[in-house]
Amino acid sequence: MRTDALPIHSGLLPRPRGPLSDAVVGALRTGVLAPVDVTDVAGADPFGADLAVALHTCYELHYQGFRDVDPDWEWAPDLLALRRDLERVFERALRAEVAGGADVPAVLDELLVEPIPGTGVSHFLRDDGEWWHLREHVVHRSIYHHKEADPHAWVIPRLRGQAKAALVAVEFDEFGGGHGDRAHAQLYADLMAASGLDTGYLSYFDDVPPQIVAIVNMMSLFGLHRRLRGALVGHFAAAEITTAPSARRIAQAIERLGGGPRTTHFFTEHIEADAVHEQVLRHDVVGDLLDREPELASDVVFGVRATELLEARFGAHVLSAWRAGRSSLLTPLPDHPGPA
Ligand SMILES: [Fe+2]
Ligand SMILES: [Fe+2]
Repeated sequence: MRTDALPIHSGLLPRPRGPLSDAVVGALRTGVLAPVDVTDVAGADPFGADLAVALHTCYELHYQGFRDVDPDWEWAPDLLALRRDLERVFERALRAEVAGGADVPAVLDELLVEPIPGTGVSHFLRDDGEWWHLREHVVHRSIYHHKEADPHAWVIPRLRGQAKAALVAVEFDEFGGGHGDRAHAQLYADLMAASGLDTGYLSYFDDVPPQIVAIVNMMSLFGLHRRLRGALVGHFAAAEITTAPSARRIAQAIERLGGGPRTTHFFTEHIEADAVHEQVLRHDVVGDLLDREPELASDVVFGVRATELLEARFGAHVLSAWRAGRSSLLTPLPDHPGPA
């Protein structure tokens, strides 16, 4: 099967949301990085829109890049130096906000314990979600799912033995098991098409709040730094453990709203796949990594906790908007009749 529906890279630079992102986007647009005062960076809101967009733009040079932007910016020393300063602010804030510890099994087990009744975004969607809520959810998550599993691929050369073999096996599934039309990024594009949304790569980036951008930035931060390989693996395990139950709830929401397999497929695929991935991550990847490098346990815990923190911040933003009857996006979507 051909993959004509693969997301086309829109390639557009994002809209700056403050002085830091203005400096980064301006550099890529004009070819000159204007000097940025380090105190501006240090004083920036570590979870705010400006830093999130600045960092995301730096990272995107390592993924698909931007149309009409010199690819050599990926390794431009002055931009890398600015990225390092932004990362320090972001990572320091993450570490300050999460509890430490090194008991990896206990921290992973905690993820399986859900409050009753559930309070997350997927619970809202299952119980009360309307079609516009679901479409907003799909738009938010597109910022990651257009590059699903790409940030995790950076860690492959940093692992050895069973941990590497098992992580690659999970990545093989995420990338479609040899079939481009089954890559999860493609399944997500299919979901967007079935939902009447633009399937272009990052085409909604300017419409999403910083809470979702921060989650993708965390993955890129953990993936691109070898010293954070434990955190990347912890993040990956946390994501796989929590995805299957939330995917089930979202599939139920779509079915309740009258959607068929074209709209539910991405989620039903993850109910089954991530139940397996969870076990592989816990035992073969995390387990083997810590057998080899037990000193990484606190980093694995950091990766799990940072994921929980940023997911909680994102969920709080979305639910507070929805409960007030407002859009959770910066620009509300046009009306759409219903799921396919
Ligand atoms: Fe996936
Ligand atoms: Fe998965």
